Amino acid sequence: MSMDSKVLCVALVGGLAATVTLYGDKISIPPPSAKQGVTYEGDIKAIFERSCLKCHGVEKPKGKVSLHTLEATLASNVKNKVFKPGNSIESNIVKSVSRVDEDDAMPPEGKGKPLTAEEIGLIRAWIDQGAK
Ligand code: HEC
Repeated sequence: MSMDSKVLCVALVGGLAATVTLYGDKISIPPPSAKQGVTYEGDIKAIFERSCLKCHGVEKPKGKVSLHTLEATLASNVKNKVFKPGNSIESNIVKSVSRVDEDDAMPPEGKGKPLTAEEIGLIRAWIDQGAK
């Protein structure tokens, strides 16, 4: 294996899952879904509708983040506060739905069912694949 491909392998493995230690508890961020061609319309919208739109819809969106359409989601991504393009592991939305920090968890504690690992994996794949 050449030096370059080793570096690439480490980078790939490093991108799959991350474990964060918080107050001694290990919280892991689920890996991205292996699904190809993940889109807002096909995969993400239903998740947002169920868990997020009551606070992040058209009317007075919390934190000025609207997630009801792809265009609204991209327009809300001021200073990458929703996601970092192409980099799901460093995206706020992924950290918040993975409940890395309970104070910033989305949906907030007691305000909805936490997302499943599969749903988080789809959001990660969507970001990594270009947020189409
Ligand atoms: C009960 C209301 C509520 C629900 C449901 C909710 N949020 Fe939020 N969200 C908020 C509030 C309030 C803020 C702004 C204050 C804050 O940052 O904590 C916010 C802020 C955010 C931000 C911006 C964070 C930042 O750093 O500025 C993102 C991204 C976000 N929410 C994503 C989501 C996603 C994704 C879901 C669904 C899985 C969701 N929220 C569900 C209330 C909600």
